[in-house]
Amino acid sequence: GRVVALIPAAGMGTRLGLPIPKAFVKLGERTLLQRSVSAALSSGVVDQVVVIVPADLAEQITAEYRSRPDVTVTVGGAERSDSVRAGLAAAGTDTELVLVHDAARALTPPALFAAVVAALDAGARAVIPGLPVADTLKRVDHAETVLDTPDRAELRAIGTPQGFDADLLRRAHADGGDATDDAGLVEALGVPVQVVPGDPLAFKITTPFDLRLAQLLLVDSVA
Ligand code: C5P
Repeated sequence: GRVVALIPAAGMGTRLGLPIPKAFVKLGERTLLQRSVSAALSSGVVDQVVVIVPADLAEQITAEYRSRPDVTVTVGGAERSDSVRAGLAAAGTDTELVLVHDAARALTPPALFAAVVAALDAGARAVIPGLPVADTLKRVDHAETVLDTPDRAELRAIGTPQGFDADLLRRAHADGGDATDDAGLVEALGVPVQVVPGDPLAFKITTPFDLRLAQLLLVDSVA
């Protein structure tokens, strides 16, 4: 079937504290977005990439990928889920599987895309990469008073690429819901979501510390 990877890159990345949108920050020679597009395409399981960018960068990024028939550029929205919906609208109606991957997870190994697609091919309708959590997590109230301590063994830290049956993801986004990840909207439909082993290299570059970490990790990887 036809597999489309949506790469939301329309966020401002305020927490990184730089004057340009996060996905367009350079890590070594290439931007976070360029690295994420390359990882998706070199996985061998993605037929088409839809890149979702801020309106004022659409012209520039469209020109950058003009010679690539397998890359489409579209404009995002105010919230991440608005950007994902814009990407879904730009994906062809013949799309069978959709992967949603944060541009900010710039060091994601191509093999993680393949693992998510393999789990979809094996019959799951929604697949997300997860890792055990090293820290103890606590729920707190508005005054930072601890409410409770969930059993760590039952928790997973979830990242992207998240993979879905295309019709299911369209249905999950149909009523304009907002969620920090796409799987949350699928869960709300009562559809089972399968976790597969994640990769620590797929961490999201959010803070200056994360960018520094990514720069140091580059030393040992193929730039
Ligand atoms: O801000 P955060 O790191 O959670 O964003 C995750 C991904 O979603 C980033 O790649 C960001 O560019 C993207 N995003 C988007 N449109 C928004 C907000 C975030 O495409 N309105």
